[in-house]
Formats: sequence, C-alpha cells, structure tokens
Amino acid sequence: MKILKILNKYYDETLDLSFNNLDIGLVNESHIKILLEFPIDTTNKELLIERIKKYLLASGFQIDFTVEVNVRINIKKTQGETTPINKIKNIIVVASGKGGVGKSTVSANISTALSKQNIKVGLLDADIYGPSLPTIMGSKDKKPLIKNNKFQPIVRYGVKSISIGNLVEEGNPIMWRGPIISNTLKQLITNTEWGDLDYLIIDLPPGTGDIQITITKKIPVTASIIITTPHILSGVDASRAINMFKKLDIYIAGIIENMSYYTCKKCNCSENIFESSLFSTQEICLKHDLNFLGSLPLDSKMCSNETSNGKFYNAYNDNNVSTYYDTIISKLFRIISKIDSF
Ligand SMILES: Nc1ncnc2c1ncn2[C@@H]1O[C@H](COP(=O)(O)OP(=O)(O)O)[C@@H](O)[C@H]1O
Ligand SMILES: [Mg+2]
Repeated sequence: MKILKILNKYYDETLDLSFNNLDIGLVNESHIKILLEFPIDTTNKELLIERIKKYLLASGFQIDFTVEVNVRINIKKTQGETTPINKIKNIIVVASGKGGVGKSTVSANISTALSKQNIKVGLLDADIYGPSLPTIMGSKDKKPLIKNNKFQPIVRYGVKSISIGNLVEEGNPIMWRGPIISNTLKQLITNTEWGDLDYLIIDLPPGTGDIQITITKKIPVTASIIITTPHILSGVDASRAINMFKKLDIYIAGIIENMSYYTCKKCNCSENIFESSLFSTQEICLKHDLNFLGSLPLDSKMCSNETSNGKFYNAYNDNNVSTYYDTIISKLFRIISKIDSF
C-alpha cells in the first residue's frame, strides 16, 4: 500500500521517531493504527496525530484520515545470559552511587507518571538500609498480605510496590550481611505477585559494593538510570556506578541531574546552587558517551511528603514540576524503546 510506504518515510523530529512496517496498520483506507513502544501522554499523542495527518496531506493524500495511536511495551534484551522474569516485561534499576541525591523521589515520580499513562508498573524498594519508599508513597503502616506463599504488593497511585520497609518495624536497624540481603531482594522480586508488568522500577541501595553487584548480576535488567546532583562528590560516585554497570554489561539509559538549580519564588530568577557544576554532569555524560536525560530543580515541595503525614508529593500532579518530569520521562522511555527486543 502506497500510504504505508509514505508513512515508513515519516520522521517525527519532536519525538525522534520513525516507523517500521510492524508499527503501522491500515484498518481501512482512511483509518490508520500506529503502535508506539513508549508511553505517551494525551497531549503529545494528539499533537503526534496532528503532525502525521499534516504529513499525509502534504504527501498528497486528500482523504479525511483517522489516526489511532496505541502503546505496546515490548520485552527488551537484558544483560549477559539473563532472561526476563515471567510476567515482568522490563526491569529498570535506578542507581546513584551516593545516598540522598533523590533516587527514591525520582523512582516514585517516574512510577506514578507511568501509571498515569496506563502503563503497568511495579516499584521495588531495594534500599535495604534506608527504605524510604513506604514514606514517600504513603504506605508506611501497611503490611503486604501473603497469598499462596506470595507477597501481594501494596497498590498506591496505581503503582504496585513492595519494600523491606513494609516488612520490618520502622526504626529497627537491619543488620543483615551481603548474601542474605541479595537473596532477600531476589526473593522480593520473584516471590511477589506482581501480575503483568510493563516495567518494574527498582530503587537500588546507594553505593557500588558487593550488594549492588550481586543484586544486579542476579536479575535481568533492561536498563539503568543514574541519579546525581551537581555536586562534585555526587558526580564522583555516579561515575563509580557507571563503571559498575559497564562492567556488568548493563545498559545505561542516561543520567538525571537532581537539585540542579533553585528558582526564586519572589523574583522568579533561577540560580545554580552548586556553581559551575551543572557542567560536570554534562562532562560525565560526554566522557562516558551517555545520554543526559535532564535536570530537576531543587523544590521545597519535594520534601513535603515527609512532613505532611505520608501524603506523597506527586510532582506529576503539579503543573510546575511535572513539565520537567514530562520531558525527562518522555526522553528516557524513547531511549529504552530503541533497545533491541528480546
Ligand atoms: N528536587 C528536590 N528538591 C528538594 N528536595 C528533594 C529533591 N529531590 C529529593 N529531595 C529530598 O531530598 C531527600 C533525599 O531524597 P531521596 O529521594 O530520599 O534520596 P535517595 O533515595 O537518593 O537517598 C529527601 O528528603 C527528598 O524529599
Ligand atoms: Mg532512597
């Protein structure tokens, strides 16, 4: 069909997107179905449809087309000899090297944003020493039910989550040794009734030691994301995490810089708190040939979940902040969609 040939030549600059035969279907001569491999919000979907229609008109098709865009997340290749876990299409690990840089905050916001776009998402808090996701997600007082010997994840904001913090008493130190920790985490992944998931996001413990290496060796990872701040020490630890993933042959989708700048509420001017350091994240990306996924501002509302009775500050519901997340998430999952399918 001529129209399919024409659509195969279409390149969408905004989304860095081109189609192949598998992505496009013709229901009849005026109805086109397009399958995307990455989440897309309603506004961007509508804009994409408009751009496709304009392109077809400009290519000489005068019919009144309807274009339907659907999303189907495929199973992507994982590192080395690993194979995907049954029902979990893709595992994405969020790492930082350093603690306190916003790994859990970003993991929670990415997960809720995905769920809002009808993507099936699970969130595993693997930070055994500082499980903060129950606080962030407002599920501190909840214990997962056990059915048929499997944990039932706690569902908050459409995200199925489980954390060691939901299994032990708050405030009690966890003094397990490395092998027990990595076995426990592996069990939390495989012994949880996740159902069908497009993505399981894993918030890794900070650091690049035995625990992180053992966990990531044991589980099939589609991609990793590195979180850093503009501070030089955070950059140094982020580099360690990058080298760890390279050694483990785990694909790094890119780096997110958190707490990059602050926008003054009175005069609306933006200031880089750690001067000249924004540069260093870009430098890390250049040095390691990695994608810079974007930067997030320092925003006092981000901490509010810790002070407002477990009510999660969902950046995605906040128009001011969600625009930063929109751009980052859109870029991140378009990059992941380009990984070879399994
Ligand atoms: N962009 C931000 N602006 C303001 N506070 C933030 C931001 N990102 C994270 N925080 C706060 O910083 C602290 C550390 O974040 P957290 O996500 O727990 O880091 P990590 O998981 O890397 O240890 C938390 O109190 C969190 O609310
Ligand atoms: Mg954390």
